[in-house]
Amino acid sequence: MFVDVHAHLDDEAFDSDREEVLEKIKEAGIMVINAGSDIASSQMSVKLAKEHDLIYACVGVHPHDAQNVQKDYIKELEELAKNSKVVGIGEIGLDYYYDLSDRETQKRIFIEQLDLAKSLNLPVVIHDRDAHQDTLDILKDSRPAKGLMHCYSGSLEMAQELIRLGFYFSFGGVITFKNAKKPKEVASKLPLERILLETDCPYLSPEPYRGKRNDPTRIPVIAKTLAELRGITVDEIKDITFANLRCLGGL
Ligand code: NI
Repeated sequence: MFVDVHAHLDDEAFDSDREEVLEKIKEAGIMVINAGSDIASSQMSVKLAKEHDLIYACVGVHPHDAQNVQKDYIKELEELAKNSKVVGIGEIGLDYYYDLSDRETQKRIFIEQLDLAKSLNLPVVIHDRDAHQDTLDILKDSRPAKGLMHCYSGSLEMAQELIRLGFYFSFGGVITFKNAKKPKEVASKLPLERILLETDCPYLSPEPYRGKRNDPTRIPVIAKTLAELRGITVDEIKDITFANLRCLGGL
């Protein structure tokens, strides 16, 4: 089975036709892990997972929203994580490209959620944009049980360190872009048993749909590119990535 390990089906981009998109996903038989980005979207993520068999949820606060958290947000996330379809804490991390929250706040909120994940024994889903060194330092310090680097944009060297920490890596539409030399190279060289597929929808549609709204039914398009990069078949990619998900998340 194909799995989209990182989607935002709660995004307002799906407000007008969410049920139709969910029906399409069901017909395509694609499993989806929906990420939370703040408390409201984490609640929505859990709601979607409760209502749809093939949808699972992560709950967490994205670095963009770090400065907006209320005092009791960890309690709220902990409460949400009690649902049996919650499979991880995310997406959490650091974003020094947009810097929408100041960096000290981003770090604090990141670390607090890493602590929560450890206490619940859940994997973490990490967003790292232009913050590679601080992300790595914090993860080395915190040592979460397991985790996923979503839309991985770091180097092969950093990946080796993350593998030692128990991390997996997911790739999406970016590896289909002609100018994405580094992600293509990293995706072609990382150990296959550490790789997963994601859409990050509604963002980052693969070629030839670049710029259009993305959704989980585009996972086979991304799988095709990864299969070409690795010199194996799409079916092999499907089987390997599914097995990897079971190792990561015990689904
Ligand atoms: Ni995302």
